[in-house]
Amino acid sequence: MLQKPKGTKDLYGKEINTKDFIIGILEYVSGLYNIEKIETPIFEAVETFTKSVGETSDIVSKEMFEFTDKGDRQMVLRPEGTAGVIRAFIENKLYGLNKSRFYYIGPMFRYENPQKGRQRQFNQYGVEIISQKNILIDTEVIMLASFIFKSLGLKAKLLINSLGDKESRDAYSKAVREYLYNYKDQLTQDSLNRLEKNPLRILDDKIDGKKDFIKNAPKFKDFYTKESKEYFDEIKENLSAYEIDFEVDEKLVRGLDYYTDIVFEFVSVSGEAGSQSTLLAGGRYDNLVKQMGGPELSGIGFATGIERLMIEIEKTIPEDAIDTTPAAFVCAISEITEKPSLEIANLLRSAGISSEWLPRSYKIQKALEKYESSGCNVAVLIGEKELAVGNVIVRVGKKQEEIKISELIEYISEIEE
Ligand code: HAM
Repeated sequence: MLQKPKGTKDLYGKEINTKDFIIGILEYVSGLYNIEKIETPIFEAVETFTKSVGETSDIVSKEMFEFTDKGDRQMVLRPEGTAGVIRAFIENKLYGLNKSRFYYIGPMFRYENPQKGRQRQFNQYGVEIISQKNILIDTEVIMLASFIFKSLGLKAKLLINSLGDKESRDAYSKAVREYLYNYKDQLTQDSLNRLEKNPLRILDDKIDGKKDFIKNAPKFKDFYTKESKEYFDEIKENLSAYEIDFEVDEKLVRGLDYYTDIVFEFVSVSGEAGSQSTLLAGGRYDNLVKQMGGPELSGIGFATGIERLMIEIEKTIPEDAIDTTPAAFVCAISEITEKPSLEIANLLRSAGISSEWLPRSYKIQKALEKYESSGCNVAVLIGEKELAVGNVIVRVGKKQEEIKISELIEYISEIEE
């Protein structure tokens, strides 16, 4: 039997309705914040990611779905959305059109070990605000993320940290590198590879990050420049002023190289998410736009994994939010009325009444069983005798009556109210 690739999912029924419900809310909230939608290709040239997410990151070094196309170009199925949006922003000179606030929704691909909440093809909703640096934009973006959880009826804990400006980060990286050098013989090969280029990632490494000597590693807060410290302090003040609860997590360094200053994550508190508890993550990237060949602009954004939100919301989603039962079932009683029955279903649909038409292969008994188990309120049955005088049989629950076709729309609309 043919099977779907490892780490992917076929979605149907309740699951796809849940996904669509979440996307509906995300799009609605984007509208409230006046953030415009952008769509970029699902595959991009490999440099789009090596020059942004960074060559030492797990995403680029281990997890990319790479392929050579027929023109011998190195391509990648996008592992994340930020790099593509910035590439599009620069290539289409969107800054010249005064456009700065974007959101995207779509599939991303990472060659990871699949488990609950972690897939090889997953969907992200992401936001990127590209403009002059402004501390209130940082606050607004975190507020937006927080508002998304509220709108979905979900609780999540906000963790924040600051990676400082380049000067702070360089000084801190140097101190961490020197410290870890003393424990070289206890580091994994992965960490040894990172020691020169990206020692901070060792601090939150799945294996080395838990070792005893990490506890006494230098602390970032001792290396912030005056400006970086003030920036972080002001964000914390703003969040408190707007009553957004947060915790500072000094170990939060994030796995992508482009971040500077504020980084944040919303993590699950429900216990539903298993080990993949980060529901939403993001931060500021001060140098990325310039680094990718664009103008001197800063950016901030985040992305949330829609599959992880689906796991979170599964137990609390209102039944009617994912209910796709039609307003009416339409079924012919005899062969002769099969064609007219489809016409009647279409008549209802034209009037905005959702209808499922059942072909004659459904014997009437089967059709009624389907109707009764569906939760649908109305079944319209088309019999020869009734049709001859312009009528149909309408069944509501177990009660049946004959109704003029000309009055059918009004009749069903009233039941629907
Ligand atoms: P990220 O932390 O790599 O950041 O991913 C963001 C979110 O995507 C995660 O918190 C998680 O919810 C979801 N996610 C990541 N990998 C998987 C997976 N394998 N399966 C299911 N869900 C997953 C970024 O991607 C950045 N581009 C976010 C950003 C935007 N920063 C600034 N702007």
